Amino acid sequence: MIKVLVVGKGGREHAIITALHESPTETRIYSFPGSDAIFEIAEKADASDLPTLISFMKSEGIDLCVAGEESYLVKDKGLANECAEAGIPCWGPPKESAQLEASKEFAKEFMVRHEIPTGGYASVDTVADAKAAIAGKYPTVLKFDGLAAGKGVAVCFDEASADEFIDEVLGQRKFGAGNLLIEEFLDGPEISIFASVVDDDYQILAPARDYKRIYDADEGPNTGGMGAVSSLEMFEGDLRQTIDETIVKPTVEGLRKDGLPYRGFLYFGLILTTDGPKILEYNCRFGDPEAQAVLPMISGDFAQYVFEGAKGNLQPDAIKFQDGWSICLVSASDGYPASSRSGDTISGIGNLENARIYHAGTRLDSDGNFETAGGRVYAIVANGDSREEAVAKVYAESEKVSFPGMQRRSDIGTRNF
Ligand code: GLY
Repeated sequence: MIKVLVVGKGGREHAIITALHESPTETRIYSFPGSDAIFEIAEKADASDLPTLISFMKSEGIDLCVAGEESYLVKDKGLANECAEAGIPCWGPPKESAQLEASKEFAKEFMVRHEIPTGGYASVDTVADAKAAIAGKYPTVLKFDGLAAGKGVAVCFDEASADEFIDEVLGQRKFGAGNLLIEEFLDGPEISIFASVVDDDYQILAPARDYKRIYDADEGPNTGGMGAVSSLEMFEGDLRQTIDETIVKPTVEGLRKDGLPYRGFLYFGLILTTDGPKILEYNCRFGDPEAQAVLPMISGDFAQYVFEGAKGNLQPDAIKFQDGWSICLVSASDGYPASSRSGDTISGIGNLENARIYHAGTRLDSDGNFETAGGRVYAIVANGDSREEAVAKVYAESEKVSFPGMQRRSDIGTRNF
C-alpha cells in the first residue's frame, strides 16, 4: 500500500487523485489543501503551510508526495527539496529546476543556451524600456517574470492594451517585483505536450490542446481554461518525432548539462509555426484543464508509475494511453473571469452516466449539496472513438448538470482543428 499526498485543490488535482485512486496498486491518499469533492476519495492533510505539511508527511509516514500545482515547488525552501531532506520521494522538481516555470527569463535563457526553438524576446524593467522594445510592432506577447496565478501573460494586439498591461506590471507593480518579457508573437495552432521526466530519462504522454478564452470562437478575456481535448491522433505525421528531437530531448539534456535535477511532469506549451514547433513556456506540473482530458485516457497502474518515477525508475510500460479522443468541458460561474459568484447550487451531478466530473471551484453547502465556490466550477469529461463522438457525448452529458449563472463554451473540441 502506498501512502500518497497530493498538493493542490483544483480540477487537475481531482483528476490526479482519481487516477491514483483507480490504480490497481492499493493507495491511501491525502490531500493538501484539497476540496470537499477531493475529500470524498482522499483524507485531509492536517497542515497549513509548507513546514507543517512536511511535519505531517513525516508523522503520517507518507511514501510519496505529488505536486499537482506549482506554487509549493518554489515556496520557502521548495516542496521537493524539503521532501528530499525528509527522505520522501516527490513527483515534482526541486526549487532550482522549477525556475523553468517560475521565472520566464530563466526559461528563455535556458532555451537559448540549449538551442531549443522559441520566439525572440527582450527583458525590461521600466515602462520606457518596454515601449522601446515593442517598437510599435503588434501583436506582441508580454509576460511578467514570476508567478502571477495565470494572470501574468497578455497577448496585445494594439498599443492601448499593451500600455495598460505594462502599467499594471511595471507601473503599479500589481504582481510585485520582477522584469517584464517582451516576446515575439508566434502564430499557429497551440499544442500542450507533457513528459514524465526522471533524471536523464523521459516519456512523452498523450498531447492535448486547451481553450483559454471565455467565449466561443476564442473571443473574450483569457481564463484558466474553458476546456481541453486530448488524443494520440493529435501527433499527426512525424510531429511527435519532431517535437521529441527539437524540444523534449534537448530540454532533458539541458537539465542534465545545467545540473538541474528533475523528477515529475514537465509541460511544454508549444506553437506549431510554419518554421516548426516552437516553445512558448515550460510548466513544472501537468496542465489544467489538460490533465482532466488526458488522465481518463490512461490505463495501467498510474500510482505505481508515479511512485517508481519519484524514486528514479521511469516505467513507461506501467501505463498505456487509450485510442480515441477525450474532451473536457469546463463550466464557469457567473461573472467569470472578471469576478466569480459563489453559492449557486449545482444540480444533476448524480445524473451523469457516460462522463466524469472533476470539481474545481465547488464546496458542500449546509445541506450536503455541492455549490459554486470559484471561477471555474467543474469539468465534465467524455471519451469517444472519434473526436465528433466525444464532443457529442460531452455536450449531451453536460446538459444534465447546471447551476444559476453557468457559463460554458459550445465549441470545445470542434474549434482549432
Ligand atoms: N492549461 C494551461 C496551464 O495549465 O497552464
